Amino acid sequence: MAAFYDTARATDAHGAEPFDLVVLGAGSGGYACALRAAQLGFTVALVEKDKVGGTCLHRGCIPTKAMLHAAEVADSVRGGSQFGVHAAIDKIDLAGVVAYADSVVGRMYKGLSGLVSGNGITVVQGNGRLTAQDGRPSVTVGDRTYQARNLILATGSYPRSLPELEIDGAKILTSEQALRLDRLPASAIVLGGGVIGVEFASAWRSFGVDVTIVEALPRLVSGEDSSISNALERAFRKRKINMVTGAALSECQADESGVRVELVDGQRLEAELMLVAVGRGPQTAGLGFQESGVDVDDGFVRVTERLETSVSGVYAVGDLVRGPQLAHRGFAHGIFVAEEIANRAGVLEQAPATIVDANVPRVTYCDPEIASVGLGEAEARTRFGEVETFTYDLAGNGKSQILKTRGFVKLVRRSSGPVIGIHMIGARVSELVGEAQLITNWDAFPADVADLIHAHPSQTEALGEAHLALAGKPLHSHG
Ligand code: NAI
Repeated sequence: MAAFYDTARATDAHGAEPFDLVVLGAGSGGYACALRAAQLGFTVALVEKDKVGGTCLHRGCIPTKAMLHAAEVADSVRGGSQFGVHAAIDKIDLAGVVAYADSVVGRMYKGLSGLVSGNGITVVQGNGRLTAQDGRPSVTVGDRTYQARNLILATGSYPRSLPELEIDGAKILTSEQALRLDRLPASAIVLGGGVIGVEFASAWRSFGVDVTIVEALPRLVSGEDSSISNALERAFRKRKINMVTGAALSECQADESGVRVELVDGQRLEAELMLVAVGRGPQTAGLGFQESGVDVDDGFVRVTERLETSVSGVYAVGDLVRGPQLAHRGFAHGIFVAEEIANRAGVLEQAPATIVDANVPRVTYCDPEIASVGLGEAEARTRFGEVETFTYDLAGNGKSQILKTRGFVKLVRRSSGPVIGIHMIGARVSELVGEAQLITNWDAFPADVADLIHAHPSQTEALGEAHLALAGKPLHSHG
């Protein structure tokens, strides 16, 4: 494959193959960048210390969603009699759930590895570090140094903890360790009621674990519209998931018999183990970023809106960049940077459009599911003043009634303007986010969507009905 420019500057210091791009980290952001750059004709080295696919494929999105699917199967069996199908759960074999998740990951990994090699990308196995070789940034892996005109930092994130906690992997766990448990605990404390916390709490409850979520802020999933948090808390209460909100951890002790915690309000809790899900931090320490002149702000790499760092030709993508830490944002960043480089090199005529965080769809796969895109009502009011909202209750949606799910679709529009936020909760609403993101990303007005015909009976009708109502012509609602 031809290198487009300046191969002399892109030569490995030890005379190995020259590259147009060196990508540090082969997770969602890194491999997406490598694949798009290779498609555009660039030569690419992809440096990875573990496996291509990163956190999302091996320790995050894919295995957790497999676990959550197994949890849904358990709930379907347990709740079968309400549909006239009587069944009982014999046992939950967590090792079997892990084996199933592993098989999914294994197939995806094989496919991805094939894609990477099929595109002529050179995978460099090892721990990479940013260094300044002859005054120019480069990536060093062991005793080899790789130089290229374009370096992409894509080292991702790690599970954060608290200073008062000792993560031992047995009683106090990160989500990565919790995914590898081969036996279910009888009880668990989930520290942090964000995305990871509510997903694990949901799955464990479906498997019969006695779960208590401890969240420092006043509500669960605080990044979502407050109506979503309220509905989730109601649903979780019904599922007998215990929740303590507005209370941070003060002390924690763990031994063979379990974990005992005291909260700042004096409450004491006890469980067999505790999952720590208090956020993920950008993986930037000890990688030579600052030494090479790359500005880092509170751990995050500082970038321009075109994702270039303070060093020309060095870009950062994915969880390293402050904003929603989502795999699909990483993919989008990776593709963006490859195209940006191609545009600057004259290979692509058009510069890619910048990525707007508010337009990135968000899904939380707990039961009930949460899916949203754009601004919440409070944020929209702060930003635009007057807004209009409409909430369509899934009680009026035939397919949701068939599924016996509760929930709603809430729309936020600028006063007499386009829809700028869509917030949904209920079984399977994750699948509605595709249409929702087209609406907000294309600045659609309620009347635009009201003209589209939604298949009956499907949950997509709930989106259609909400827009019909907001356009002033409700069908199955009071508008
Ligand atoms: P998060 O930021 O979503 O939630 C962490 C929660 O912990 C916050 O609500 C915070 O207030 C709380 N917290 C912090 N310190 C605390 C303390 N001392 N005591 C009690 N609560 C405390 O982070 P999370 O859930 O760890 O997830 C990390 C990242 O991974 C997120 O950015 C998330 O978007 C991403 N992710 C996305 C998924 C998806 O898209 N479905 C699934 C899992 C993770």
